Amino acid sequence: MEALTVRGGYRLEGEIPIHGAKNSALPLLAATLLVEGCSEIHNCPHLSDVDASMAILRHLGCGVTRQDTTVTVDATAPSRAQIPDNLMREMRSSIVFLGAIVARFGQATLTYPGGCELGPRPIDLHLSALRRLGVTVEECHGTIRCRVEKELRGAEITLGFPSVGATENVLLAACTAMGTTVLRNAAREPEIQDLCRFLNHCGAHISDDGCGTLVIEGVPRLQGVAHAVMPDRIEAATYLAAAAVTGGKIALTSCAPETVSSVFPLLEQAGCVITRPQPNRIHMLAPSRLRKMGTVRTMPYPGFPTDAAAPLLAAACVAEGTTVFVENIFENRYRYVDELARMGARIQVDGRVAVVEGVPRLQGASVACTDLRGGAALVVAALAAGGETTVTALHHLDRGYDDLVGCLQGVGARIRRQ
Ligand code: EPZ
Repeated sequence: MEALTVRGGYRLEGEIPIHGAKNSALPLLAATLLVEGCSEIHNCPHLSDVDASMAILRHLGCGVTRQDTTVTVDATAPSRAQIPDNLMREMRSSIVFLGAIVARFGQATLTYPGGCELGPRPIDLHLSALRRLGVTVEECHGTIRCRVEKELRGAEITLGFPSVGATENVLLAACTAMGTTVLRNAAREPEIQDLCRFLNHCGAHISDDGCGTLVIEGVPRLQGVAHAVMPDRIEAATYLAAAAVTGGKIALTSCAPETVSSVFPLLEQAGCVITRPQPNRIHMLAPSRLRKMGTVRTMPYPGFPTDAAAPLLAAACVAEGTTVFVENIFENRYRYVDELARMGARIQVDGRVAVVEGVPRLQGASVACTDLRGGAALVVAALAAGGETTVTALHHLDRGYDDLVGCLQGVGARIRRQ
């Protein structure tokens, strides 16, 4: 079984280039299905979730090729409107293909994406929104069958929660619907804005009031374009946490600082000095030992992102004082805490609250990733631990971090994969 071996205690110093965002690339690839022709997605990261999306597009009958970070999708004549169970289970966020398949074929058959390491992952908001657009949805024995009786038609939709995935599915289904859709309480994450930029570049008519309301005027068809995936803000936050925990000095390049800015106040409170010398760079100098970060509450964008909490929590494990994390998005985001405890971390979890009492030093240990961002937390902790840490179950990390080992080695980390 492959494992990472990390020898902690080395200060990270240097530059890390940030890759394209996983959570933008996935909906963008689903959106290429709406185009009756070819689309080029540039700055696409090398991730297993991207590979799974490419496999789904091929299964649907699209031509898909990859050249380095460019994925080209030819959706001239897709031939299937269903995603098999194995592909749905391989990647939970396959549900984002639902809106695009329904829009392109007038029908769709998928199986339930199922829960994941973060707890149950319901799709009620997705399905109720699609019903408002004129989709008949039948759910039985774990299979979802959707059918457009006459045509997709614009509607007024208000989401009970600003769900990222449900917002993406409404955008993909409403772009070529008859009439106008008004989506209220939409997710405002930067990845949603990236998707809207791509769709409008393809000829869609989407307007965003910047306060959570999207207006989508349906158009007859979309044309293929070339689009570059936005930088990954969670990858950036992860590397900031890695540098912070080692008292490092780091520059992130080809990034989008404004999309990570909700993380900066916590790191500055912990004693880090963060500057943005250029529009696509973040520089950070960390103190030899972090101070506590206070209380970290995860919220929908523009609040503190739930995906950045785990790496920051790992850094808080060796800070002076106590930091409290309150998880407001997912039910069970702390499965990795038991693994951090094996390294000597002092963390009390009660439901959605984790109280982290900083200790002077963690000890290297054998730990296993429990999920994508929890795995990143283990790597962050290992960088600051005394001795050697072995990290297994690397398939979780491969879903969301492109060349993690190479990036960390490039700034002085003693880390290898074998
Ligand atoms: C997206 O997941 C991201 N994934 C997640 O990143 C991210 O944590 C999340 O948004 C929040 O920002 C991708 O973009 C591929 P949601 P998504 O729908 O769309 C509940 C990572 O590590 N909900 O905004 O699944 C849901 O249970 C991943 O990169 C319903 O109740 O998130 C959750 O509690 C993890 N009913 C909350 O809303 C629904 O129909 C947020 O879910 C849909 C969601």
